[in-house]
Amino acid sequence: MKKLIVLFFISTGCFAFVTIADQFREDSPVPIPPSKQRRGNAEKGFNYLVTGDYLKSGIPYSMFLLGSQRDTNNFLQRSGNNKNLSHDFTAVKAPNGELVVAPNCLQCHAQVFENKLVVGLGNSLSDYTINREGTALMAERFLKNLKGEQATKYEAARDFITSIKTIAPSLIAPIKGVNLADHLAYLLVSHRDPKTLQWSEKNMLKLPDELIPTDVPAWWLLKKKNAMFYNGFGRGDFGRFLMASNLLTVTDTAEAREVDSHFNDVLAYINSIEPPKYPKPINEVAASKGRSVFEASCSKCHGKYGEVEEYPNLLIPASIIKTDSLLYTANYSNPQFINWFNKSWFTTGNHPAKLVPFRGYIAPPLDGIWVTAPYLHNGSVPTLEAVLNTKLRPKFWQRSFNKPSYNYETPGWNFEVKESATNNETYNTTLRGYGNYGHDFGDRLSQDDRKAVIEYLKTL
Ligand code: HEC
Ligand code: HEC
Repeated sequence: MKKLIVLFFISTGCFAFVTIADQFREDSPVPIPPSKQRRGNAEKGFNYLVTGDYLKSGIPYSMFLLGSQRDTNNFLQRSGNNKNLSHDFTAVKAPNGELVVAPNCLQCHAQVFENKLVVGLGNSLSDYTINREGTALMAERFLKNLKGEQATKYEAARDFITSIKTIAPSLIAPIKGVNLADHLAYLLVSHRDPKTLQWSEKNMLKLPDELIPTDVPAWWLLKKKNAMFYNGFGRGDFGRFLMASNLLTVTDTAEAREVDSHFNDVLAYINSIEPPKYPKPINEVAASKGRSVFEASCSKCHGKYGEVEEYPNLLIPASIIKTDSLLYTANYSNPQFINWFNKSWFTTGNHPAKLVPFRGYIAPPLDGIWVTAPYLHNGSVPTLEAVLNTKLRPKFWQRSFNKPSYNYETPGWNFEVKESATNNETYNTTLRGYGNYGHDFGDRLSQDDRKAVIEYLKTL
């Protein structure tokens, strides 16, 4: 092999040398080394997460209550001004003292499941098919007209509205349920100076045309992982990545430093979350058989569960995993985001973070896998049964977003197979980035073994 590389080097130059060496390296799984994390206090972290001012601009409180339906659930048992807000919004004081409402992490990282709020479960019911620019413009027009004492309301909302106005028109998905946070991150940095984090009207990065759809990963998996995100590119201090939502409204690095000083606690909280237990009876005989099959066929990538846990932290290259490639290829076809981040404020100080791209995906821990449908990084497969049998994966499938209905046997969403994608509730696997192919490891098992593995997966 070495000779071949050298030969190529001589005949075609350095570029060929690099790409070939890259390919050789990525033909087998790559272990991810651990990186040091800050310690924190989980209880403080939870409080900050659901009441903290990591966003310091938003919609004035009274206006928000007028414009939204009052939420009487108070799932988080919050008091004071937060009592009337749904779990995914927080009332915070803007720097000028005005009370505003800002979205919080639970927009994407919590879901109401069977009438209970599960914090840490990725929200697979969010709707990015709507353009919210109109709403932002309306709010702006109204607030700008306020005079006298009321003028402070516009001042408190300005950063938030500017951000939403800029982002909304480019953040529209063709179907409900998929998340566009990757593109959101891209948009947020494209208007900011990497060193000072200051906002500029001008878009300073060339944006990719394509929006990458993802299914939000469950928070309880992070404690086992040495790297964040589906392609494992989040390395170094995890708190730094967690606080990146603050880019929505941050004004300068002094504010970023202040917000950052809470995210060791938020990480401690995230690491304290356990997955919900499967609530129905389990066939113990089948599950125990499933465990042996799993340990023979799946553990080398996904680890072992139970008394003694093991998790190998492996990146699986494209040539082996063969699932939709848009998410990781975007890092190579559009390296602007990675370049911005790797020379930004986030890489400075005594707990820096950095992005290290890879052509493939991390093999995730499978704790609580029964409740995290749909599956694969893009949410293209509705049930576990279909993850393990590629023949069962529907090309077009529709679930209900009004009355979400879960199937505890398959486990996954109840869905209808469709002939084509006729509305925005039909998942269309023929779109770029939405492919449901690859990860065909279950196809090699007998039907009985697959059933047994599913019974076992319910116990994780
Ligand atoms: C707009 C939706 C959205 C918001 C808001 C959001 N996230 Fe995320 N988050 C995502 C998506 C999508 C991913 C997966 C992206 C990927 O891997 O490519 C993710 C990934 C993560 C992960 C990594 C999990 C893993 O196993 O790798 C953590 C932890 C996390 N977010 C925490 C937070 C915190 C804390 C906040 C608030 C400060 C937050 N997120 C706000 C959508 C969101
Ligand atoms: C060669 C490594 C490898 C093997 C072997 C493997 N997997 Fe995976 N698995 C992965 C990777 C990587 C992903 C993420 C793929 C993606 O999202 O595109 C994944 C994803 C999954 C998911 C979806 C996770 C989610 O949250 O959406 C399930 C379920 C799963 N695997 C179960 C299994 C089972 C059961 C077996 C054994 C029959 C198995 N895997 C064998 C690497 C592997």
